[in-house]
Amino acid sequence: MEKLLINGGKKLDGEVPISGAKNAVLPILAAALLTNGCCVIKNVPKLDDVYVMLSVLEELSVRASWQRDELRLDCSRVAPAAPNPKILGRIRASNLILGPLLGRFKEAEIGACGGCSIGSRPMNLHFAALEVLGAKVLPLEAGYFVFAKALHGGEVHLAFPSVGATENLLMAASLAEGKTVLYNAAAEPEIVDLAGFINAMGGKISGAGSNVITIEGVKRLGGAEYTVMPDRIETGTFLLAGAMCGGTVHLAGARAEHNHALLQALQQAGISFTYNSDKNGSFIEVLGCAGRPLPLQITTASYPGFPTDMQPQLAAMLSLAQGQSMICERIFENRFRFVEELKKMGASIQVRDNCAIIDGVARLHGNTVCATDLRAGAAMVLAGLAAAGRTVVEQVEYIDRGYEDFAGKLSCLGADIYRLSSDKQCKLVV
Ligand code: EPZ
Repeated sequence: MEKLLINGGKKLDGEVPISGAKNAVLPILAAALLTNGCCVIKNVPKLDDVYVMLSVLEELSVRASWQRDELRLDCSRVAPAAPNPKILGRIRASNLILGPLLGRFKEAEIGACGGCSIGSRPMNLHFAALEVLGAKVLPLEAGYFVFAKALHGGEVHLAFPSVGATENLLMAASLAEGKTVLYNAAAEPEIVDLAGFINAMGGKISGAGSNVITIEGVKRLGGAEYTVMPDRIETGTFLLAGAMCGGTVHLAGARAEHNHALLQALQQAGISFTYNSDKNGSFIEVLGCAGRPLPLQITTASYPGFPTDMQPQLAAMLSLAQGQSMICERIFENRFRFVEELKKMGASIQVRDNCAIIDGVARLHGNTVCATDLRAGAAMVLAGLAAAGRTVVEQVEYIDRGYEDFAGKLSCLGADIYRLSSDKQCKLVV
């Protein structure tokens, strides 16, 4: 188990590049299965979840090769297969092979995409949507076999705007016969990116980014070249790091239009920032909080609401607010496990009815804490950066899943941070 050692209290100053978005590149990699051609995906972040997704694709005979941050995927030999359940079970996003394999081969086998530390994460919405197109779902001992004689268009109404169910439906419907209209679709920017990639392959998707998406099925999809959008959750995480540690943090490539809810919250908390939305050269710059942030009342929601993936990081910042804040989590049922870890650093938080009531304190103190999941791990690092004294964050593997060189980028900004592997201690050299 690797860990991060942080000597807190340092001001953060400088510029870091925002990497490609984890939650956009994972569905895009899956969508490459829709073609027997070659795809070139650019701005791919080097993340453990990307490596796992590539191993899933290789189980399906995709040949992948890296050139710097570009991935070349040769899908000419793809055939439906039952990927190793051990690999499928490592990331929830492996369930995104369902839509493309069903669209292309009219069959797919996925693992038991079950719970993780933040919630039960069932697949019922995915299955209900695909059944409208003519699919049948067969539960297996450890997963599901989904098949169809033929896939036809239809009207799909999602009971909840599930991101993954929207993505699987878009991919399957792209090769169905006829038109599909998806109502109550997820409107996240990552959906827009996926639709952009499928349209670059020859797909006919319109309305992505809204809650009604229309997909005209086509006979086949070709290879394509596509550049992944910047990661809006990495952006938000660094914005909060800058807000909590003082100084000026410049996020090159960040897109303000993807982060309105968070920027509005920062404004209400008294945090100053500027941004430029020009396609070439977009950035967001946060000016560190001279005093303590103002308290907030936030409820997480589907996009464009406040993102659940920023909830733990915001809780870390509000632990230092001047007064009482409340954060209600309405997307996942178990996303407050980090609270006990924050309390080890002096935070004063109570959780009731999936809401965290946070009484801000003047200072957090260092301690040894655990990353209980990807975003919780990032929150613990933020708390350690702002705390007095030394913090050790354990189970850093969680953070590696979703942040490219997180500690290295923080070190570039002046953070006093070390990565400790089990056998040696090393100062990050950047
Ligand atoms: C995506 O997960 C993201 N992951 C998550 O980011 C993100 O938190 C989530 O969307 C919500 O924005 C990727 O894109 C790889 P959902 P997904 O289907 O698609 C319930 C991170 O930290 N639900 O929108 O799995 C589900 O249990 C990760 O980067 C059903 O009940 O999310 C959850 O409570 C964490 N039945 C809610 O809907 C279903 O069939 C939202 O799930 C599907 C989902």
